[in-house]
Amino acid sequence: MAYESVQVRKLTGGCGAEVLGVDLKALSNRQWDEVQAAFTEHGVIFFRDQVLTPEQHIAFARRWAPIDVNRFFKHVEGHPEIAEVRKQPEQKTNIGGGWHTDHSYDEAPAMGSILLARELPEEGGDTLFANMYRAFETLSPGLQRTLEGMNAVHGSAHVFGKGGVNDKNPEGKSRYGNQEKVGADVVHPVVIRHPLSGRKALYVNPAFTLRFEDWSAEDSKPLLEHLYRHASRPEFTCRFRWREGSIAFWDNRATWHYAANDYHGERRLMHRITVSGCALEAAQRN
Ligand code: SIN
Repeated sequence: MAYESVQVRKLTGGCGAEVLGVDLKALSNRQWDEVQAAFTEHGVIFFRDQVLTPEQHIAFARRWAPIDVNRFFKHVEGHPEIAEVRKQPEQKTNIGGGWHTDHSYDEAPAMGSILLARELPEEGGDTLFANMYRAFETLSPGLQRTLEGMNAVHGSAHVFGKGGVNDKNPEGKSRYGNQEKVGADVVHPVVIRHPLSGRKALYVNPAFTLRFEDWSAEDSKPLLEHLYRHASRPEFTCRFRWREGSIAFWDNRATWHYAANDYHGERRLMHRITVSGCALEAAQRN
């Protein structure tokens, strides 16, 4: 699309675009329309040099949809809407250090997450994104047709529940709580019709997808691993280098993300707001 009130520069051939020339707390109507269009077109958009208070961050998020407060993350003091993504100098693990998409364990997964950089290490701490439209479109037609008829089971207990990954990690206690809120596993189509763009996207991810529906975890594993290897090919990804005041806003139904953990001994603090989405519909076979 042709943008007139903002500039939109693709980050790579495979994923993401930077939106330039905007102040998110003072968008004109035209800019707001074009920011929405860029989000739909690129799946993840980036902004630089945004000076936003927590209240302004919340106000921007609410323009998109009601806030979907993450029930597991510790939040910023005084702002339950803002999840804290923090790694302290003495910590070894980070939050989001593997390919995933937020909230796929919910019946109506969050539309997107708006991550604002507050404090950054000297070097490192980039975030990588992968494009799930390209992941689907580049599979062979036979596999596409097979996947279009399938559903997958997603869950959060193995990550956020008692005895899960975060419970076993001594660093997890300062970051997460509410283990009892894991809820029942949910089922989503493996290939969704994206609610905004209408395009087909692959919707499984290494963190929260447990298995294909009516398949055992053991039977599901080889095909899921094949899809994960394929979807994370460098051609479908971009890597965002943060500066203080940078924002990434990603669509959880169109992308995966991965927080690089390569800055030991330094602090990194990000504020994340997740905005509500909808139940996902299966893409119909062509
Ligand atoms: C996340 O996975 O939500 C955090 C990403 C990041 O900190 O870069």
